[in-house]
Amino acid sequence: MGAPVIEVRDLVHVYRRGSVDVPALRGVTFQIQQGEYVSLMGPSGSGKSTLMHILGCLLTPTSGSYQLDGVETVHLGEQERARIRREKIGFVFQQFNLLPRLSLLENVALPMMYAGVPRRERLRRASSLLERVGLGHRIHHTPTEISGGEAQRVAIARALANDPSLILADEPTGNLDSRTGEEILALFHELHQEGRTILVVTHDPGVARRAERILRMRDGQLETASASTG
Ligand SMILES: Nc1ncnc2c1ncn2[C@@H]1O[C@H](COP(=O)(O)OP(=O)(O)O)[C@@H](O)[C@H]1O
Ligand SMILES: [Mg+2]
Repeated sequence: MGAPVIEVRDLVHVYRRGSVDVPALRGVTFQIQQGEYVSLMGPSGSGKSTLMHILGCLLTPTSGSYQLDGVETVHLGEQERARIRREKIGFVFQQFNLLPRLSLLENVALPMMYAGVPRRERLRRASSLLERVGLGHRIHHTPTEISGGEAQRVAIARALANDPSLILADEPTGNLDSRTGEEILALFHELHQEGRTILVVTHDPGVARRAERILRMRDGQLETASASTG
């Protein structure tokens, strides 16, 4: 195995709801190696999404350490965090989060615009990514004109726009039927084969088993890690 791409130590996160503190993470420590495919399970409210937001540099933890590729992230400013998100991380969400007024092509090209890729190159690459996820014939459609499974494939193409080494997916098959979910899992399998590191949050044991290792959360803490049996 390679170097740890994710190294988390004593991560704590407390949300503040009015005057009430809501502890979401109560001291989480783990590592993920370069190229690993890991799933994260746990009951609703156990802190999975909070952890994913921190790993994605979308949220700063209350305390603890998060090193990504050996770089401590928790004290970085917003600009540096945005650069890390853009260059290293591809996100896939349960709700797809596509922009409804933009074409599929424009949705996939958008992260490249923020990365400063010239327009012609953006559109060329977006088109080839859509081709890759089987939507090369729909590039000028909008997200309102496609199915949920297709929308998630577009979201994966968008996640790949800047060629990230780390894919973070929060319940990516949660809104899909099982056959459509299989298409998404097949894509994750391919991305893993290419050497990308993948972390997938799921409620579905069948989805979790596709990973090499399963992490389990409960009440803001990780249970002892176990190898996937599937
Ligand atoms: N933005 C927020 N403000 C306040 N509390 C939150 C917020 N997001 C999540 N929480 C709380 O933090 C805990 C963990 O939530 P979350 O990370 O979403 O868990 P999961 O993804 O496992 O369902 C829950 O108690 C939830 O209610
Ligand atoms: Mg969640």
